[in-house]
Amino acid sequence: PVSTDEPRVGAVSVGGVPLAEVAERFGTPVYVLDENEVRERCRTYRAAFPDAEVLYAAKAFLCRAMVHWTAEEGLGLDVCSAGELELAVATGFPPERIVLHGNAKSPRDLEAALRLGVGRIVIDSPSEIARLAAAVGPGGHQKVMVRVVPGISAGGHDKIRTGTDDQKFGLSIADGYAQHAITRILDQPQLELTGLHCHLGSQITSVKPYLAAVRRMVGLMARLHEQHGLILTELDLGGGHGIAYRPGEQALDLTALARKVRAELSEACAVAGLPVPRLIIEPGRAVVGPAGIALYHVLSVKRTGDHTFVAIDGGMSDNPRPALYGVRYAPRLIGRHSTAAPAAVTLMGRHCEAGDVLDTDVELPSDVRPGDLLAVPVAGAYHLSMASGYNLVGRPPVVAVDAGTARLLVRRESLDDIRSRDVGL
Ligand code: LLP
Repeated sequence: PVSTDEPRVGAVSVGGVPLAEVAERFGTPVYVLDENEVRERCRTYRAAFPDAEVLYAAKAFLCRAMVHWTAEEGLGLDVCSAGELELAVATGFPPERIVLHGNAKSPRDLEAALRLGVGRIVIDSPSEIARLAAAVGPGGHQKVMVRVVPGISAGGHDKIRTGTDDQKFGLSIADGYAQHAITRILDQPQLELTGLHCHLGSQITSVKPYLAAVRRMVGLMARLHEQHGLILTELDLGGGHGIAYRPGEQALDLTALARKVRAELSEACAVAGLPVPRLIIEPGRAVVGPAGIALYHVLSVKRTGDHTFVAIDGGMSDNPRPALYGVRYAPRLIGRHSTAAPAAVTLMGRHCEAGDVLDTDVELPSDVRPGDLLAVPVAGAYHLSMASGYNLVGRPPVVAVDAGTARLLVRRESLDDIRSRDVGL
């Protein structure tokens, strides 16, 4: 079932549960998550990368059930805040299998990481070195990696490209910052540098940038070996594996990625006279994105001149991705059979903002009407995790479907939840 990333636009039942039933029982908007699909995707990663450490990037989607599934399927976790970290550990995730990221870690992030004993902390800026060393304290010990910028442009949108030199993450090789920071880390006896990290960007659909990254990173490892006699045992190539959001789009081929990265790494290390480091990868989107579906009801249909505007009961507060990155989805009518000819409509969100438009060119049956149910496939990653409180509509619930049953994982944010935080007058 996970050999292809084809969005399952034809499926009206997921995990053996009719989507219309989920909408009826839990209301809309609602995020539906196919538990088996998430687990299968974790297994696909373990099978494709048997010698590597696969860390699920929690920023894509996190709740306690997701923590459990990740742990049970043998993945580690990439977290980037005390919040993600505390949730994972409180749910029983082994802290030594967690890596902490972040371009600006707060004192609370570092305090939680050290208190809970995370496996590695990834250093992202020079000022973090002394802060971390002081927090660990003399006689203490913490494994660290360094986030290196290899100078490679890749990713589905400018806002999610992080491998180039002029962006906020990491330390670049080209201007010598990475080398300089590494020298300073080596001077801190309580910090053990285990390896290098890079994350090129997100929604990458070609293997090539990863191979270029392997060459650049091994090149740096070779120079560090020459200069400091340093042998690093880990190489973390980050995540970014692209998925198909619409029929016909191409997902990154994970089998090819695994095979070619392994070959490139072996060859580059042989040329450099280095032992092959253990590979780490950090997929987020590709683990959970295709396993999620967002359901909405149509609230209004407006026909003006040549245009049909269809408004749904959700929008940029539960999915900011179209507004942020111009991402396109493949929404479809479910729950009733229509024989009407397809017509191009503008699908709007419900928020008080002209830019709250899911898409301007969506094919829906021309008889689309208020009360209709729409499904937006491939909504598992960076939806709930990026949801906001705009217009106080409350964030949607998450419902897991599996083996014919639906169960609530995260309940809908209620007006009481919102009110309870509002403590002053
Ligand atoms: N590792 C690091 C250090 C990262 O910064 C990220 C994503 C990942 C792994 C996981 O990347 P993935 O496999 O999910 O592409 N909000 C954007 C995506 C931002 C990704 C940020 N970092 C979106 O909705 O497309």
